[in-house]
Amino acid sequence: MKAIVISQPGKPDVLRVQDYPTPEYGPDEVLIEVKASGVNRADLFQREGHYPAPAGVPADIPGMEVAGTVVACGDAVTAWKPGDGVCVLVAGGGYAQYIKAREGQCLPIPPNFTFAEAACLPEAISTVWSNVFQRGQLKAGENLLVHGGSSGIGVAAIQLGKAFGARVIVTVGSDEKGAACIQLGADRYINYKTQDFASELSAVGIDVILDMVGGDYFPKNIGLLREEGRLVYINAVNGSRVQLNLSQIMAKRLTLTGSTLRGRDYAFRKALSAEIHKEVWPVITAGRFKPVIDKVLPFTEAPAAHELMASSQHIGKIILSWE
Ligand SMILES: NC(=O)c1ccc[n+]([C@@H]2O[C@H](COP(=O)([O-])OP(=O)(O)OC[C@H]3O[C@@H](n4cnc5c(N)ncnc54)[C@H](OP(=O)(O)O)[C@@H]3O)[C@@H](O)[C@H]2O)c1
Repeated sequence: MKAIVISQPGKPDVLRVQDYPTPEYGPDEVLIEVKASGVNRADLFQREGHYPAPAGVPADIPGMEVAGTVVACGDAVTAWKPGDGVCVLVAGGGYAQYIKAREGQCLPIPPNFTFAEAACLPEAISTVWSNVFQRGQLKAGENLLVHGGSSGIGVAAIQLGKAFGARVIVTVGSDEKGAACIQLGADRYINYKTQDFASELSAVGIDVILDMVGGDYFPKNIGLLREEGRLVYINAVNGSRVQLNLSQIMAKRLTLTGSTLRGRDYAFRKALSAEIHKEVWPVITAGRFKPVIDKVLPFTEAPAAHELMASSQHIGKIILSWE
């Protein structure tokens, strides 16, 4: 098969198309012919040599989400058959023509979704469901603040927040990104390049914050949270060392949490996929969640896809097509 391989740590041009052995699947695994691979910020960190793949997946093939067709099933597989369209969150190896996945990780491609649209779903929805809804316990009627509102994760957080009855406020780096977030249902945007989100939102009272920025956002986030508020970290691109006044945690009874999906075991991934299928797939199939694709590029243009993501000019997802 063909795969996009990180030939050495470095800039986007270290990504090369190479021949690679097709994965051998086990008894409870399916072999998927990949039609579309989602590009995620973490793939850039991996390419630079800062985010090694966990054991069990190819160390040199990035990619954490794919959509495609099941072409073969292990003897113990009961949920899928050859020909089924699936999308799946994987721990690595997603930039390849074929990938294996355990059956409980896979989700059906929603009706009328293209492979590119389906490849937008696994990483963003898993991250948002696990962090905003499971860890952050977002409830209808609450205020959700999403930093990086136009990111692949952000556009999913906006739509799921709204679908489950929250008021959603986002921070973005341009008014164009803000307008796109409003179109997706966000109630308000703050352009952090021209406005200070902490003073703009000081009178609002936020229940849940999804943050990937960290650094100087931390004290601002803590200040904005209401009593019983939840602050959820999924990255800290501006710095992960912060100072905390514990009195604020106690006075407002705050919850500070966060997680990374990549290292989670199969039991967690299987349970998460099952819950997403039960809770989120009905929202998607009812047409209340739109995949937001900035660009679909052929797999041979993986370096350009990484350059586009690094530029942060995109809104929503960047997809590599194998069709
Ligand atoms: N913990 C987990 O399990 C998990 C899972 C998935 C993703 N993540 C994290 O969630 C974030 C979003 O992922 P994604 O794949 O959706 O990425 P993405 O589409 O590239 O979005 C990242 C966005 O963050 C904003 N941003 C703000 N400050 C930034 C900075 N200093 N450097 C770069 N971007 C900055 C940019 O938008 P503006 O122009 O508006 O600033 C950018 O578009 C990433 O940090 C990723 O690592 C974590």
